[in-house]
Amino acid sequence: MTGGATTQPAAAQLVLARTKAELATARGALAAPVVLVPTMGALHSGHRTLLRAARALAGQAGAGQAAAGQAGQVVVSIFVNPLQFGPSEDLDRYPRTLDEDLAMCAAEGVSLVFAPSAAEMYPAGPPEVTVDPGPAGQLLEGQFRPGFFDGVLTVVLKLLHLARPDVVVFGQKDAQQLALVRRMVADMDLGIAVESVPIARDADGLATSSRNRYLAPAERAMALAIPRALHAGQARADVGSSAVLDAAWQVLRATPELTVDYLALADPGTFTPVLPGQGGAALLLTAARVGGTRLIDNVPVVLPAAEGRDR
Ligand code: PAF
Repeated sequence: MTGGATTQPAAAQLVLARTKAELATARGALAAPVVLVPTMGALHSGHRTLLRAARALAGQAGAGQAAAGQAGQVVVSIFVNPLQFGPSEDLDRYPRTLDEDLAMCAAEGVSLVFAPSAAEMYPAGPPEVTVDPGPAGQLLEGQFRPGFFDGVLTVVLKLLHLARPDVVVFGQKDAQQLALVRRMVADMDLGIAVESVPIARDADGLATSSRNRYLAPAERAMALAIPRALHAGQARADVGSSAVLDAAWQVLRATPELTVDYLALADPGTFTPVLPGQGGAALLLTAARVGGTRLIDNVPVVLPAAEGRDR
C-alpha cells in the first residue's frame, strides 16, 4: 500500500488518500469505469459483498476468473460523517477500524481508499449550504432522525464531486438512503449510475451492520425478532397489506425488549405508506432499538392488485 497509513501487507496495490489533494492525484491515474463505494468504515461481511459487486461493475474478474476486456477500478471512501449524527446519537462511539478496513479493501482488489478527517471534509466547520432531501427525506428514518438525510446527501454529493465515479454502489439495507441518493443524482443531473446490492445477512438472519458489534449476545438474540418479523410479514403478502403488518407486529410485540421506532409498509420510491387496496411492489421496513443499539432492516413485498380482498 502507498499513502499515509501503515497496515498489513496488501494483496493488491492500494493507495490511501487522506486529503482531497491526494485523492485528486490518485483518482487521475485510475482506469474507467471508476466505481465508488461510500462507507463509514468498520467494514464487515456486508461491505465485502458491496466491494465484490463494485469489482464486478468495474469489469474486474473475481478470484479464479479470467478478466473480460478492459477493467476499471474501485474506490472506497471511509468517513464517519458528523453531519448525519444527531446530538444524542453514537458519533463518538461509532467503531473506527481503519487498519482492518484497509486490509479488507486490499484483499478485495480496491485501488484507492479515501479516508479524510472531519477537518479535511469540512474545513470551515459544518457547511451552511446543505442538500435538502425533499419530502421522502422527512418520513420514517427522516422523522426519527431529524437532519439525518440532509447530512447523508450532503456528504454523498461531496464524495461524488471529489471521487468523480462513473458508478456508485449502495446497500439495500439503507433503502431510504438509496432511494434519496437516486433521486438526488437524477434531480441534479449528476450523470452517475447508482447501483444497489441486496442485504447481506448473517447465518442467524440478522442484517449485517457496523452497529451489530455493539450487541451483547442476549441483545443479539432479541434483535433476531427484527428479521423474523419482516419475514413473517412478507409471508402474508399474498393476503394484503393489513395481514403483512399484523403478522410482523405480532412477532415484534412478542419481544418487549425491542423498542420499535416504526414498522411500515411503504412505496419503495416515495416511502409514503401503502394505502389500503394499493397493490404492487412495496417495502416492509422497521427500525428498532435493543439496549442502546438502533437497527434498521427491510424486505421487499409484492401486494395483490385488488387488495380489498384481505382475508
Ligand atoms: O451508509 C453509510 O454508510 C453512510 O450513510 C454513507 C452513505 C457512507 C454516508 O456517510
